[in-house]
Amino acid sequence: MWYENKVTQLLNIKYPIIQAGMAGGVTTPELVAAVSNSGALGNLGAGYMSPEQMQETIKKIKQVTDKPFGVNLFIPENAEVSEEEVIKANEWLQPFREELNLSEQSEVKKPNALFFEEQINILLEEKVKVCSFTFGLPSKEIVQKLKKENIVVIGTATTVEEAIANEELGIDMVVVQGSEAGGHRGTFSGSFKDAMIGTMALVPQTVDNVNIPVIAAGGIMDGRGVLSALILGAQAVQMGTAFVTSVESGADKQHKEAILNSTEDQTVVTSAFSGKPARGIRNDFITKMANHEEELPKYPIQNTLTKSIRSEAAKQNHPEWMSLWSGQNPRLSKQQPVSEMLAEIISQVDTIIKNKNEVW
Ligand SMILES: Cc1cc2nc3c(=O)[nH]c(=O)nc-3n(C[C@H](O)[C@H](O)[C@H](O)COP(=O)(O)O)c2cc1C
Repeated sequence: MWYENKVTQLLNIKYPIIQAGMAGGVTTPELVAAVSNSGALGNLGAGYMSPEQMQETIKKIKQVTDKPFGVNLFIPENAEVSEEEVIKANEWLQPFREELNLSEQSEVKKPNALFFEEQINILLEEKVKVCSFTFGLPSKEIVQKLKKENIVVIGTATTVEEAIANEELGIDMVVVQGSEAGGHRGTFSGSFKDAMIGTMALVPQTVDNVNIPVIAAGGIMDGRGVLSALILGAQAVQMGTAFVTSVESGADKQHKEAILNSTEDQTVVTSAFSGKPARGIRNDFITKMANHEEELPKYPIQNTLTKSIRSEAAKQNHPEWMSLWSGQNPRLSKQQPVSEMLAEIISQVDTIIKNKNEVW
């Protein structure tokens, strides 16, 4: 069958479809479980979670599925920042705070170096089956520690070179993130602009240059996208935006509505919210901050500075100041339960294969 391959075997799932770990509240236990219970791989986006929150959520997922699921983590980044940069950024953010009646500026929170290690320990303790990373490479020791416990390790790459670096480290499979992708860019070596390569070009070039299985991500929303990625040589797909609008997703309702009502020309890549380039739907915040992008503190500092603006904007129903992450394929988004969405995708692939003489 078209859906049986090395990735489905290694991950012990039926269909080669992975729901992206999406940090920030989208990947509720209900979403992760619904995906895994439908035969694909659900993933908890735990990048922003404290080790305690992460453990609690993993336990909740286990209560609603006995199928394999994964956890996605962020590789910690050096957060060098000058006081001057923070003062300037706060000045540019002040008009948004005033509109929202926010009296206090957010504190600059530097990441806790132990946080990541503790997250890894929770994964081991909870015997999670799959662990994926973005924003860089974990240390060799961490990869070995996870693999020793039979945890499948998945990396993220935005160029062929980054995929090779994942393979050389002993990582089991690699998600290649095309420039269409919603959310943050996973680029970790070289210029992010040079690494804006479309999925159609990135997948076959990576497949030709690594031996580990390649997972295609970016702009894949339905059976046509899934089968195309497999034909290009990917052994699975990772989908984000398509799951954001699902019934089980924990995304804010304004975020879901924005994706459901957007078109292909309305997304942009911006660093304004977090200090790291990410694709989302263009809004007033992005437009007004565009001139300052180059001077903002880098991720994760800028992310902490905008946190209260983003959450308060959601509370007060101002989507124009929220981060509305979306890939370039929002016209294909639907609001439906995960089981229905995945059944539809599988049936679309089956139909295309069955009618291939008419299609090709
Ligand atoms: C709302 C949202 C949040 C995301 N958060 C993460 C994350 O925490 N970790 C990660 O590896 N990728 C994250 N991504 C990127 C996905 O892994 C994937 O590359 C992308 O969704 C694929 O493109 P698509 O959105 O067009 O399907 C996120 C994507 C979206 C849309």
